[in-house]
Amino acid sequence: MSEMRDLIGTLPDQLRWAADIDPPMVPLRSEAVVAGMGGSGIAGDIAAVIAEAQGARVTVHKSYGLPEWVGGDTVVVAVSHSGNTEETLSAAGEAVARGIPLVTVSVGGELESLGGAVARVALPDSPQPRASAGRLAGAVLRVLEGSGVLASTGPDLREAASVVEEVLAGADAEVDRIAGALRGRVAVIYGGAGVGVVAASRWKAQINENGKAPAFWATLPEANHNEIVGWTAHPDLSRDSMAVVFLDDEHDHPRVTLRSIVTRDLMARSVPIAGVVSSRGISPLARVMALSVIGDLVSVRLAELANVDPVPVDIIEDLKQRLAGSGE
Ligand code: PA5
Repeated sequence: MSEMRDLIGTLPDQLRWAADIDPPMVPLRSEAVVAGMGGSGIAGDIAAVIAEAQGARVTVHKSYGLPEWVGGDTVVVAVSHSGNTEETLSAAGEAVARGIPLVTVSVGGELESLGGAVARVALPDSPQPRASAGRLAGAVLRVLEGSGVLASTGPDLREAASVVEEVLAGADAEVDRIAGALRGRVAVIYGGAGVGVVAASRWKAQINENGKAPAFWATLPEANHNEIVGWTAHPDLSRDSMAVVFLDDEHDHPRVTLRSIVTRDLMARSVPIAGVVSSRGISPLARVMALSVIGDLVSVRLAELANVDPVPVDIIEDLKQRLAGSGE
């Protein structure tokens, strides 16, 4: 059993950890920007989908600085596992410079020592940000609750923990089947707008980082208006080298559900369908976590099949070091 597989098994406890922390006392605001990259940034994507279901506004920011419109009615949550990601530090610094309430979520690093934050959530350390997704997302949700942007998040965190526990207990056959179908191929993950696409982006990132393999995602209905044509001219290429996974959420718009079925039927002529995974649970958080954790396990299985270690991401570290050495 790999270290990363064991870490994925801690996801229910991570979600319960977040349910047990008190929402930090921060100024009440009507909307939020969550700034973070990669394995930390997914916390913002998850928060945004939950906010949408609650009729609240959470914008995800994955670059330097902050959008011009961000102002006094906003709380900025800067989330970085290491606390040293330059884009996130840039967004946090911009919030302080503009006098916008800033809350940081990190294990430590420069984000911890940045002056001007109104509150800070300290995360327990973990070998990799992506292995801490439950704590990262949970902490961000608690901050958004504390700032009044989201309603109570504790019950959803507990439901998500139980649902993930159930999924983990019974996923082996599905994981083996999907990983077997994706092995040696470029994975493309389709999810419906909302829960499905957030999970699809997590699958993609996990296959990239754990499986060290190429993967891409797309969303329905948008892919019906462009990408579906891209599967038609080179069926030999796609049949031999690619495979698609569909993520279905029971709460998808009924027309999206229909689109997913018809799209599968049309695409099956030119590319193998590696699997169709259905969400479980009631809250958007539980559903996104239930879909994502299957992808987490598939990515580790792909790593095993490719004989690579899922944990290290040396090329990301190399890139960060090269950038740190350049003053541009
Ligand atoms: O998974 C990874 O290692 C990356 O995607 C990181 O999460 C990303 O580079 C950002 O780093 P951090 O999460 O420390 O802010």
